[in-house]
Amino acid sequence: MRRICVMGTGYVGLVSGACLADFGNAVVAVDIDETRVELLRSGEVPIYEPGLEELVDRNRESGRLSFSSDVAFAIQSSEIVFICVGTPSLPSGEVDMSFVHNAARTIGQYMEDFKIVVNKSTVPVGTGDEVEQIIRKVRPDADFDVVSNPEFLREGSAIDDFMHPDRVVIGAGSQRAMEAVVDVYRPLYQNDTPMVLTGIQSAEMIKYASNALLAAKISFINEIASVCEAYGADVTAVARGMGLDERIGPRNLFAGAGYGGSCFPKDVQGLAATARRGEVDAPLIEAIDTSNVRQRRRMVDKLHHLVGDFSNKTICLLGLSFKPDTDDIREAPALEMVASLIEAGATVKAYDPAAMEHSKQEHPDLICCEDPYTAAQDADAVVLMTEWNEFRNMDLPRLLDCAATNRFLDCRNIYDPHEMVRLGFEYVSVGRVSRSPGESDDTSSWMIPGRFSPIRT
Ligand code: UDX
Repeated sequence: MRRICVMGTGYVGLVSGACLADFGNAVVAVDIDETRVELLRSGEVPIYEPGLEELVDRNRESGRLSFSSDVAFAIQSSEIVFICVGTPSLPSGEVDMSFVHNAARTIGQYMEDFKIVVNKSTVPVGTGDEVEQIIRKVRPDADFDVVSNPEFLREGSAIDDFMHPDRVVIGAGSQRAMEAVVDVYRPLYQNDTPMVLTGIQSAEMIKYASNALLAAKISFINEIASVCEAYGADVTAVARGMGLDERIGPRNLFAGAGYGGSCFPKDVQGLAATARRGEVDAPLIEAIDTSNVRQRRRMVDKLHHLVGDFSNKTICLLGLSFKPDTDDIREAPALEMVASLIEAGATVKAYDPAAMEHSKQEHPDLICCEDPYTAAQDADAVVLMTEWNEFRNMDLPRLLDCAATNRFLDCRNIYDPHEMVRLGFEYVSVGRVSRSPGESDDTSSWMIPGRFSPIRT
């Protein structure tokens, strides 16, 4: 059992804190936002993440997890301090490091004995040195070690990702720090989770390089989708054919509306900025974001092509969050669609199982509806933006009845094009041939590539 302080109760801090407590450690989570701490103390979890509330409750009740705004006490009573604060993007694409720097200063200010300072926030390579210098400046005599332990969790499956990771990465500059942090993850290494033990800079790079490659895979398949459209190929079949090559793998090869969320856009830009700062020419890394921005725009253009001028049109959007199982709308492709439509004079009616409240705050003109059918009422087109499971089993004939036209834009390729056309939709998707009812397709009886496309994992 280690005594741990987690600084920051955002996504990474809260999930990590609760999971580390569940591993048997004593965790106190602190935040400069006192209202948030009060909320957490009163038993509320201000984040939509399946299973998190139960995990927080269980560990709070057992006494292993507590929340506090007394940062001094939390630091002084812990051996290991995890920095889990936000690292947003600056307009230049550089990473805003002010929260990490403030956390380092606070640690220097309050520490009284040996501390291990673990950076879990996603940060550019070189941050470990910066944190060390900041603490050293505040407390020249301090005894401490800095460690990098990046987090790879995905929203919507965060707890499972934390509890069953593909690997744990720990970068340290001393044996005592490495051993202590490895010990924190004892339940994982005892279960044979691969541990990557390396230097601080390498650990920092592993996180950025992994996210950039995952994002690049998505941008790559999105560009392949456009080429598929131009030549009559089906991107779902292409992705399956590619993904079966073990060197490529099937994951993150789903063409769609472009990636969003709090990580990929920011981290890809952050890595490009880091390369520039190091005077490294990195055209491939620079292109990932450009390609993603174009993909989002391409969805707006597809809709334009389908319905014509947006002014005075009513558009139904299904899904607003940047991906299913979250209420997070940061960098969500759906919001770019909303903005373009509203700006061009369209009425936008939307339904999302979790993200309507946040979206309405950002776009007060958005009309939020109680279900997909109400949203589709009198719509000139239905646009599927996020592949929530409940959209996979909709009553499609009913949806068609509600809408004013039969136009359907599926930005996530979740429906079978042949089935949609058979039901009477004019169906457009991403990287697959678009068809209208009545258009013949003599291969449909014996070849349905979409049916054998990989299952999203
Ligand atoms: C990501 C990384 O996966 C995780 O390791 C890191 O710690 C944080 O960033 P997250 O942003 O929660 O996690 O979501 P993820 O499931 O990776 O999806 C990111 C975006 O890519 C979503 O907008 C999703 O719709 C999109 N995506 C994903 C695709 O368009 N196609 C795919 O094949 C996979």
